[in-house]
Amino acid sequence: MCGIVAYIGHREAYPIVLKGLKRLEYRGYDSAGVALISDKIDVFKKQGKVARLEESLLGTHLPSTIGIGHTRWATHGEPSDRNAHPHLSASGRISMIHNGIIENYASLKQELLNKGYQFNSDTDTEVLLNFIDDILSNNKCSLEEAVRIALKRVVGAYVIVMLDAENPDTLIAARKGSPLVIGIGENEHFLASDASPIIEYTKEVVYINDYELAIIKGNELVLKNLGNETITPFVHQLDMELAAIEKGGYEHFMLKEIHEQPTTIFDCLRGRLDMVNGEIIMAGVQEHIEALKNAKRIIVVACGTSWHAGLVAEYIIEELCRIPVEVEYASEFRYRNPIIEKGDVLFAISQSGETADTLVAIEKAKQQGAIIFGILNVVGSSIARISHAGAYTHAGPEIGVASTKAFTAQLVVLTMIALKIAKAKKTISDDRFLHLMQELNAVPDKVESILSNTENIQAIAQKHALASSFLYLGRGYNFPVALEGALKLKEISYIHAEGYPAAEMKHGPIALVDENLPVLFVATKDAYHEKVISNMQEINARKGKLIAVVTEGDQSIDSLTGDLIFVPEADELIAPIINVVPLQLLSYYIGTARGLDVDRPRNLAKSVTVE
Ligand code: M6R
Repeated sequence: MCGIVAYIGHREAYPIVLKGLKRLEYRGYDSAGVALISDKIDVFKKQGKVARLEESLLGTHLPSTIGIGHTRWATHGEPSDRNAHPHLSASGRISMIHNGIIENYASLKQELLNKGYQFNSDTDTEVLLNFIDDILSNNKCSLEEAVRIALKRVVGAYVIVMLDAENPDTLIAARKGSPLVIGIGENEHFLASDASPIIEYTKEVVYINDYELAIIKGNELVLKNLGNETITPFVHQLDMELAAIEKGGYEHFMLKEIHEQPTTIFDCLRGRLDMVNGEIIMAGVQEHIEALKNAKRIIVVACGTSWHAGLVAEYIIEELCRIPVEVEYASEFRYRNPIIEKGDVLFAISQSGETADTLVAIEKAKQQGAIIFGILNVVGSSIARISHAGAYTHAGPEIGVASTKAFTAQLVVLTMIALKIAKAKKTISDDRFLHLMQELNAVPDKVESILSNTENIQAIAQKHALASSFLYLGRGYNFPVALEGALKLKEISYIHAEGYPAAEMKHGPIALVDENLPVLFVATKDAYHEKVISNMQEINARKGKLIAVVTEGDQSIDSLTGDLIFVPEADELIAPIINVVPLQLLSYYIGTARGLDVDRPRNLAKSVTVE
């Protein structure tokens, strides 16, 4: 979703802001713009890619050493030049970029219309900007004060960054509910929605909290709350390398990230899986082990792929720990007046740690007394900061919009958590515990073996690239894998795809089956194998085009289809981490065969920071 970049320092701002916008392209956007200061504020914005904005400014002399930039993902008003950010206030004095939604913008707009204000866009941002402009002119106060007054009236979520033509050495930023990171360089500051535009300049960053204002005047950064009290900034060291956010020779980030999985899974296990002593070391889990062990119920809230990881966790935790698990779409949970009882533990699963629905859902559960446990990839993210405890997935920055390596890392972390709880609860035998540890330890090599031989998956992708619809089926632990496979295909190839429990297809989706429909089964060896083969027979009898992910050496499906994708044998509880990898590859190869931008699929955003 919207990306924010800003610079203030001794260098020319435009090249830094432009590069930052390119680094944020992965978040998904439809227009881009920058504002710089000459003797006034100059705003340049274009619908479309950052490259289009860059092209329009080729040869323009832009010496300003302060600037703001934005990639917009449309919410209020269609994607267009006029709705793109930055916006300029009616007086021309101040300019703003904004990420989030001002929910009460309509009433604020009416107030301004009554005062004779006119608007050049359909955005909520321009309303907030002119609301501040109006306070400035009526109260004869500083911009900082005007922002403070305005934000007390605002309902919604925002990060804003502003320029002031009357104070060309000052940037003002504020946040509530959307992320903002400030990089601290040598006499310069970099502001962005995440660390990716900052990492090549500095590793020292400050994360701004909700209801905080950052005022950067010259070289000095001052943090204040809305009550005008000064706050001491806490400087974090970024643990991220530039190479992690570049393609490193791969054609797409998605392919790079799929291929990184042996390493990211290894990194996720490293230091946690103590094979010598037969222990799992996770400080965040250990600290809350009594609450986890005695939990009456675990509620998982998440969205999209992270929700699928939650479903796998439901199977694993119920099996190993004998604790009831409920997996909730965060967007539904938050509005449902959910029942939270004493002893409930809430797992929030999120790659970005910024997903608005998940964030609000856990705020609600926290207010009702639940213990919040975050399973997150982005260190220092908003969800990390409001969770009581948690575990990071250590998958590194995920740039491709389709989640791949973050998903497998989530599964690894959730499995380790389940094992740790089961051991503390004594609901697992020592032998089973050690066996599952060994199985986890073997995952990186098994994933590597799939990735070193992808020709077969590429051939199957070519064969089915023109299909208009797909069905993905699986049972037990492989059911969420089927859901995730279908989601990946939808996102990347724009082919309609549905995931279903294999046995459930008889209750409806089987009506879709004909000689044109590819039906993919995740059919590795597990407790349901025989039953899944029966389901495959049912599809075969109706001439559906069968594709199957099967365990190496399994010949029981040979007579049903030639489109077989072999994966190494694994315990059924661990198998989802391995079985999803060929499905990621299949959607990648189908998407590229259809000539699509797999890293930035249409309409999607990497970090969904609005509801
Ligand atoms: O950052 P999160 O894990 O909270 O994001 C949740 C979903 O938006 C995300 O998984 C989305 O479904 C991806 N595009 C899946 O590939």
